[in-house]
Amino acid sequence: MALLDPHSFADDTQPVVRHVEWRAAVDFTERALHCVARLHLERPLEEGATLDLDTRALELAEIRDQRGWAVPFELGPVDPVFGQRLRLSLPPHTAAISVRYRTSPDASALQWLGAAQTLGGRHPYLFSQCQAIHARSVLPCQDTPARRITYGAELLVPPGLTAVMAAAGIDAKEEAGGTRFRFRMVQPIPPYLLAFAVGELGYRDLSPRSRVWTEPGLLDAAAWEFADVERHLAAAEGLFGPYDWERFDLLVMPPSFPYGGMENPRLTFLTPTLLAKDRSLVNVVAHELAHSWTGNLVTNVNAEHFWLNEGFTVFAERRIIEALDGTEAAELQAALGRRELDDAVARFRAQGLPQLTCLRTHLAGVDPDEAFSVVPYEKGYLFLRLLEATLGRTQFDALLQGWLAGHRFGAVTTEDFTRHVEAVAPGALEAIDATAWIDGEGIPPNAPPARSTRLDAVLKLAGSVPEVEVTQGWNVTEWQLFLDATPRPAAPDELASLDRRFSLSTSANAELLSSWLCLALESNYAPAIDPACDFLGRIGRMKYLKPLYRALAQRPETREVAERCFDQNAPRYHPIARQVLRSLLDKAAATVQSTP
Ligand code: BES
Ligand code: ZN
Repeated sequence: MALLDPHSFADDTQPVVRHVEWRAAVDFTERALHCVARLHLERPLEEGATLDLDTRALELAEIRDQRGWAVPFELGPVDPVFGQRLRLSLPPHTAAISVRYRTSPDASALQWLGAAQTLGGRHPYLFSQCQAIHARSVLPCQDTPARRITYGAELLVPPGLTAVMAAAGIDAKEEAGGTRFRFRMVQPIPPYLLAFAVGELGYRDLSPRSRVWTEPGLLDAAAWEFADVERHLAAAEGLFGPYDWERFDLLVMPPSFPYGGMENPRLTFLTPTLLAKDRSLVNVVAHELAHSWTGNLVTNVNAEHFWLNEGFTVFAERRIIEALDGTEAAELQAALGRRELDDAVARFRAQGLPQLTCLRTHLAGVDPDEAFSVVPYEKGYLFLRLLEATLGRTQFDALLQGWLAGHRFGAVTTEDFTRHVEAVAPGALEAIDATAWIDGEGIPPNAPPARSTRLDAVLKLAGSVPEVEVTQGWNVTEWQLFLDATPRPAAPDELASLDRRFSLSTSANAELLSSWLCLALESNYAPAIDPACDFLGRIGRMKYLKPLYRALAQRPETREVAERCFDQNAPRYHPIARQVLRSLLDKAAATVQSTP
């Protein structure tokens, strides 16, 4: 036996599930999906075989093969991170198995929202988030990106609600008990890209191949914010080749969505915090779109090679930004990324976890949600920039095209990539000391610095209270750079002047607000506590929650505030966010206690 992935029970000596027909009735009262999943094997068995699947908190009713024969099964012990192995004893000539089951109200991939938690306030809402290893809480599967599936799906939802999926819609039919929505996904996907949402949803077309879905009350704002999506698509196709997924639709999520964006194929999920009314945060759309090539088409084989997904995607995102908005805009974002990277590296070192600053990680026994950080994103980006600078853009672009073309709908390792580079550009890896980047900790000294005259101008002002005129032309990234570069602790009267002059505490831009609140809390600036708690109660995006909770929990003066805020808001947070924040607060408490 050989496991394919430290986070999955999938075994490469066992049969392969290639296609799934999934039927689910959405039960808002029980907060459960009542499901049948029919798993089709790549080829019918000649002899009996064992098949291990990943599950988490599934309540199994029965399992039968295509002949209707009961399939003996056994559930392994519960592991809090990985879930439970479901071991099936398949009889000879098995071609498909049907599993009847229901999901748990605590399924880690699902968030069930009451009507009061939605914008419209009239209907409940449900959405999934399967990356990294949560698909197993929705259906039994080989939950590793090393195994792709195609699928058909039917979602039966209560009357008045709409179901959308990261798949092609077929039709919707009214029946007793609600509406049955049917979908089909013909492009093979890793299980973490299975995604759906159910709620009061409407859409606006943005282009012939793109529309935005959201609750009716947000539709106008969303359609305006993302009106340029076709320009993003065209720029991306110009850089990376034809778009392979036909449609690029967007779904603007409820505020509790734990990420900025999630690259679910054909239907990217986006946080509503992107609706800044000035299109200033659409780089997240560029990022999720870029995943259509880097990640969804060419996928990391498991979470230990996550940088192949995210580092490549940040690189591709900034190439799109550069093509649309120019070099300065891309460089400013790179500069901000570098600051976040340096912070993360310092934090991992302080926590005694420097191994999480390598590009290629070793995550046996480690929950990928806990290991998540900007390191694979920004260190991966820098490594690719260095390679690009070394080879020159023309040769690097050819290398990238070859990489993407050679692994379409495949799963890749870091070694696949280094082999590819070595074949195309012999000696290049050695010249840039690639081993230090891939297997070494921290950021090697040959990391290319971000260069921009606007960046220099902003950094010169850090620590001062600039005149309004000076900041007039600043975009959000420049504001963030300014705030992030302000030395901590900043003096209370400096912070008060900044807030008075620029109304930072009431900024409608979530990126800017979070940078401001971080600076203020890290400086122990008491007037920022209320706005921070308010923000923590309004949003669920972990990128904002984590640093703010960390800042509050790190200081003895505000540790209680962190706990109180968390207790108040935890029921509204997504299960993944709840888990990650709980462990962050526990770690913070442990650190403080151990200090004499
Ligand atoms: N795929 C990620 C989100 C993710 C990563 C979910 C790991 C679960 C586990 C997505 O593409 C992403 O990176 N989102 C970023 C966008 C940013 C880098 C522009 C985010 O959510 O902030
Ligand atoms: Zn990403």
